[in-house]
Amino acid sequence: RAPSDYQAEDARIGSGRVDSDHSGYTGTGFVNYDNTIGSYVEWTVTVGESRDHDLRFRYANGKTDRPMRIAVDGTVVDSALPFPGTGSWSTWRASSVTVNLDPGTHTVRATATTSDGGPNVDRLSLSAGSPPQESFT
Ligand code: GCU
Repeated sequence: RAPSDYQAEDARIGSGRVDSDHSGYTGTGFVNYDNTIGSYVEWTVTVGESRDHDLRFRYANGKTDRPMRIAVDGTVVDSALPFPGTGSWSTWRASSVTVNLDPGTHTVRATATTSDGGPNVDRLSLSAGSPPQESFT
């Protein structure tokens, strides 16, 4: 099952800007969060099936961990998802969290929790996890 990709530069940006000065991003750039608590990127995503989905954030961080709060439809699903340093601003890795989503449209917001702001974020990818176990008797 191929993941659905949602570029950060196409999402709603609350306190940050689109940059392209570090290589390795996909799409046309990445979001450089402002170095402040509360800066965020919010994606609107659509899913087709009710099941667990992995929310995978592709990011680069040339400094130390910049944990972010992840909220789905306004509900916090992880209050401090780690985004550890990747060694350089052009080295991209992923942090992910698994959530159960119903079919339809949802918002996914990643908000900086420290005064360093967020890492540089390239995109969000959604992939469906295992389908719910069927019960049989
Ligand atoms: C550097 C880097 C930026 C990054 C920033 C930060 O300025 O070039 O891409 O966003 O550090 O610390 O957030």
